[in-house]
Amino acid sequence: MRVLFVCLGNICRSPTAEGVLRQKLREAGLEGRIQVDSAGTGDWHVGKAPDSRTRQAALRRGYDLSALRARQVVAADFQRFDLVLAMDQNNLAHLQRLQPQGESAELDLFLRRYQLTLDEVPDPYYGGEEGFEQVLDLLEQACDALLIELRGRL
Ligand code: 4NP
Repeated sequence: MRVLFVCLGNICRSPTAEGVLRQKLREAGLEGRIQVDSAGTGDWHVGKAPDSRTRQAALRRGYDLSALRARQVVAADFQRFDLVLAMDQNNLAHLQRLQPQGESAELDLFLRRYQLTLDEVPDPYYGGEEGFEQVLDLLEQACDALLIELRGRL
């Protein structure tokens, strides 16, 4: 199984999702069986590490995102990944336009797939500290639900 998380910049939400899922897979002993990556629909931050506020908030909960580097999603990602999970409706719409016809990767809105309290992970980039905590709260819940699904699909 190969899972790709996608947001706008690939410096806040999707790298957080990647770091949280990687940690949960490690704890579950499934690290070698599921590949995880993240990407952004935009190209402004390509090559950059996650936003410092994102890294600090994640590190306080034990997730080290410092090795991650932003990249832009490409059409070939729909061949390379089985499940492509968007953080918000704009990301999803972008991915729907990018997805080549007939590519089998499953595309979904991450939180909606697991019927959490919100459908979208709010973009924290222009807001305060609490936004980064909310991103972590939502993504920890969603990754728990995703892990249950992944176990069932292995
Ligand atoms: P992300 O957050 O999509 O969660 O990585 C953002 C990062 C950068 C920008 C917007 C959102 N930006 O406008 O540069």
